[in-house]
Amino acid sequence: MLRIAVQSKGRLYDETMMLLEEAGIKLNRGKRILLLSAKGFPVEVLFLRDDDIPQSVANGVADIGIVGENEYVEKGQEAKLIKRLGFSKCRLSLAIPKDEEYKGAEWFEGKTIATSYPVILRSFLEERGVKADIHVISGSVEIAPGIGLADAIFDIVSSGSTLVSNQLREVEVVLPCEALLIANNNLSKEKLEILDELLFRFEAIQIAEGKKYVLLNAPKEKLDEIIEVLPGMKSPTITPLANDEWVSVQSVIAEKHFWEIIGKLKSLGAEGILVLPIEKMIV
Ligand code: PRP
Ligand code: ZN
Repeated sequence: MLRIAVQSKGRLYDETMMLLEEAGIKLNRGKRILLLSAKGFPVEVLFLRDDDIPQSVANGVADIGIVGENEYVEKGQEAKLIKRLGFSKCRLSLAIPKDEEYKGAEWFEGKTIATSYPVILRSFLEERGVKADIHVISGSVEIAPGIGLADAIFDIVSSGSTLVSNQLREVEVVLPCEALLIANNNLSKEKLEILDELLFRFEAIQIAEGKKYVLLNAPKEKLDEIIEVLPGMKSPTITPLANDEWVSVQSVIAEKHFWEIIGKLKSLGAEGILVLPIEKMIV
């Protein structure tokens, strides 16, 4: 049995639950239940506050955890980084009142900065040789300058809309963040095997992301040109059709080149183009 710590609500929650579900970890979550066993896979899920996840993994209360990089770096706990998960991207940034002139980090000299991330902030300021007063608050950091509690803030920025609505401006990106998979340093062989299987599933999900499955009918005389437009995983699958001047072609394309590829296929005479989502891909 492998115990995974995840955020009980907040920034990472939805995408974490979606990832677990796609990996075949089915949970029937009732309200206020903190520990749940999965069906069909030897894991249990422990729901915690994000700030508590690094320590719980480091001291073995949980075996692995899914946590924001901001908390992992801030807490400095001895847990191993296993994998960057690529979702819940945000950044830890310094922001100042929007009309202030800003030329560089020396702006912060002698100022008061409100934050929930004092460790990361202190090391940034030390690196720049700036002396500022760090004021630690645990929530609603963004309102501190407006109510005269601080001159600036150091906090998570994602869309930037919290800054805009508090008339603040991002001036230094200190740490780009995303969801991380972390693990205890002393997992048993049995637990490592479960973790390996879990990683295999996560990777199959990540590889499929941003890819589409394409099926189409192609006139045989244009087949070579059509294959060139469709790179596929290795090479596209070609199957004969009843009408022997046509074949059916199947391949995988990257979402970001989707419209470009479809346009070329149409102009080469492809018909009946069908595009399907890919849930998982094992390469
Ligand atoms: C962070 C941060 C801001 C907001 C920024 O809070 O403290 O309030 O997100 O996001 P935006 O740039 O998209 O507006 P979070 O939602 O992580 O909650 P928490 O502060 O309670 O952890
Ligand atoms: Zn938080």
